[in-house]
Amino acid sequence: MEQEVITLLSTREIDKMRRAGHLAAQLLNHLEPLVKPGVTTLQLNDEAERWTQAHGAKSAPLGYHGFPKSICTSVNEVVCHGIPNAKQVLKSGDIINIDVTLILEGYHGDTSKMYFVGEPSPVARRLVEVTEKCRQLGMDEVRPGGRIGDIGAAIQEYAESQGFSVVRDFVGHGISNIFHTAPQIPHYGDRGTGKKLRPGMVFTIEPMINEGTWEVKVLKDKWTAITKDRKLSAQCEHTLVVTESGYEVLTQC
Ligand code: MF3
Ligand code: CO
Ligand code: CO
Repeated sequence: MEQEVITLLSTREIDKMRRAGHLAAQLLNHLEPLVKPGVTTLQLNDEAERWTQAHGAKSAPLGYHGFPKSICTSVNEVVCHGIPNAKQVLKSGDIINIDVTLILEGYHGDTSKMYFVGEPSPVARRLVEVTEKCRQLGMDEVRPGGRIGDIGAAIQEYAESQGFSVVRDFVGHGISNIFHTAPQIPHYGDRGTGKKLRPGMVFTIEPMINEGTWEVKVLKDKWTAITKDRKLSAQCEHTLVVTESGYEVLTQC
């Protein structure tokens, strides 16, 4: 993390985060009908880039620490940071996470969701449902005075109760005019630990939940993270702000 201090955003900055987040959520919806057997992940990338520019925004991943494309497309055993590729053709039964981050007026909206290509297997469907519930249970812990560790604890307790595991190597993050900043938001851990949440803090919750082991490995392309046992992984992400009474999701339509 570039900075240890957690910045509290002003109302004006939160307004910009809301607009960027809203646009990012709309992009995920826009891509939904394209996710079909036969489409390549590069086609999804190119449509996302076109749509983003057409809406006056920029794709944050493009060129970020050398990332070569505009979105991340993570299929089946890919945990995160999958690189869109012309040779990667989606087929029925695949599950895919599309993770988009847009910059609008200098502020970031970061969100991702899972899509089914055709009909998923029973375990794939269950993994995706559990992952979505994990994100919700994590968000439900967010309120002033709560602690960062409460979020991860809620996610880990539920994921493991369902027989799945929580990825450790990637975490949620503070986000504003900077893509990744303090605080880190682990999706595992212990209640009552970590920094206290305060109104105006803005960060992501983006649990990666695995069918088998939580361990991951990064491929030679330096980006693509896959499960060590090649079993399935799912993820979903929202950007949110801590409010006086709880939280507001910034990446919604
Ligand atoms: N959007 C991802 C996140 O949730 C980060 C992608 S960085 C990239 O934090 F370089 F891989 F695009
Ligand atoms: Co993120
Ligand atoms: Co993201």
